[in-house]
Amino acid sequence: MNILVIGSGGREHVLGWKLKQSPQCEKLYFAPGNAGTAGLGENLPINTDTITTKVVDEIDYFCRHNSVGLIVIGPEDPLSQGLADRLQHASRAVFGPTKEAAQLEADKAFSKQLMRAANVPTAEARIFTDLGPALTFVENHETPVVVKAAGLAKGKGVIVCDDAEQAIDAVKLIMKDKAFGEAGASIVVEERLTGQELSVLALVDGQNIFVLDPSQDHKQVGEGDTGPNTGGMGAYCPTPLVDDDLMAEIEREVLVGIVDALRREGIKYQGVLYAGLMLTPGGPKTLEFNCRFGDPEVQALMPRLKGDLVDIMVGTANGKLDEVNIGWDERCCCCVVMCSGGYPGSYRKGLPISGLEEAAKMDDVIVFHAGTAIDKKTGEVVTNGGRVLNVCALGDDLADAQRKANAACDVIQFEGAFYRSDIGGRVMGGNKV
Ligand code: AMP
Ligand code: GLY
Repeated sequence: MNILVIGSGGREHVLGWKLKQSPQCEKLYFAPGNAGTAGLGENLPINTDTITTKVVDEIDYFCRHNSVGLIVIGPEDPLSQGLADRLQHASRAVFGPTKEAAQLEADKAFSKQLMRAANVPTAEARIFTDLGPALTFVENHETPVVVKAAGLAKGKGVIVCDDAEQAIDAVKLIMKDKAFGEAGASIVVEERLTGQELSVLALVDGQNIFVLDPSQDHKQVGEGDTGPNTGGMGAYCPTPLVDDDLMAEIEREVLVGIVDALRREGIKYQGVLYAGLMLTPGGPKTLEFNCRFGDPEVQALMPRLKGDLVDIMVGTANGKLDEVNIGWDERCCCCVVMCSGGYPGSYRKGLPISGLEEAAKMDDVIVFHAGTAIDKKTGEVVTNGGRVLNVCALGDDLADAQRKANAACDVIQFEGAFYRSDIGGRVMGGNKV
């Protein structure tokens, strides 16, 4: 089977790496891919950030002429613009939810209302579409809140506030200054929760749900969870934060709860469903749903996955998840993200990267590319984004995996490179939340 992966990040590199291990995988294509995916298959020069009719036609034409039997849509932007719907065809399987189902991520107001209707545990919240009432609410709110642009904002539309003053600034930034454009036309203001964060991802085929091993992301840029939020500085899997009973509760109350609520709205969910949770003193609460694999969580999940990812994805797309075999490597995987100097603020691109081959030769280490490109003139691998590389290592326990991943980061160099050396620290007695 020929396969096309849509997207260009570390998530798409790791998915391609795992798909390629399947005996069913023949040719592998990426649109548009990165320097890492170019080593696995062919990168197609199609920009999939904005889904126009021309882009859909280009992908559809390519798939028909190259016998593509499986299309995997990695990121949320094309999903929320309906790419999965528009590529449906009897000749192929499409992995990723429809536009309607992807609203769960693309519209936090929709998602919050659905959670309430289905009694999915989540933070208390109010939804606003006008500046005045939103300001009055946060001015008079006594406990800390989180202000969220309802639409997609590349992971930057959530502002965690300490006091009313910060909340007022956040509301103005989103609704008055329109910092996130249309994504901030409505906002969700919710109670600020405390606790460890947890990512629980599940495959959903419209009928069956298969919950994947739990992982933990590290959103803040600095060691010890300091500084501004990022797209994710590292993740590890599995996490000891949840036992089987708690996982069963999360499956029942959160995942099954929301899939059933969607069904009652006439929306069928197929693809991967990601619940971002906080383990509060009052039990697990849902912070958000995403309609795709977490990045970098999936980089920590896939190296442990035992099973044929082609079967798994086709089974999910065709409603036959119950016929698929999925297991896990007992070891722990730690993924450390190497970033460009300045990230999550502005940073330079086009800087040469060295040490990739040496790192790849280290025991139990796999390096996935995120923001990389091949320099057209020199042929060198260069930086091309804020999050540049995802350095993953398998270890007997979390400490072992973290140590190996950090050692591999130390042999990779580019100007301004930095990473967090404490991924997993929150459960190893290191930094506190
Ligand atoms: P979201 O995109 O909604 O998951 O929010 C991004 C990040 O903001 C989360 O991973 C949390 O670190 C933080 N966050 C979101 N909602 C809350 C909340 N209600 N209380 C505390 N932190 C939150
Ligand atoms: N790791 C956070 C996300 O993928 O949204």
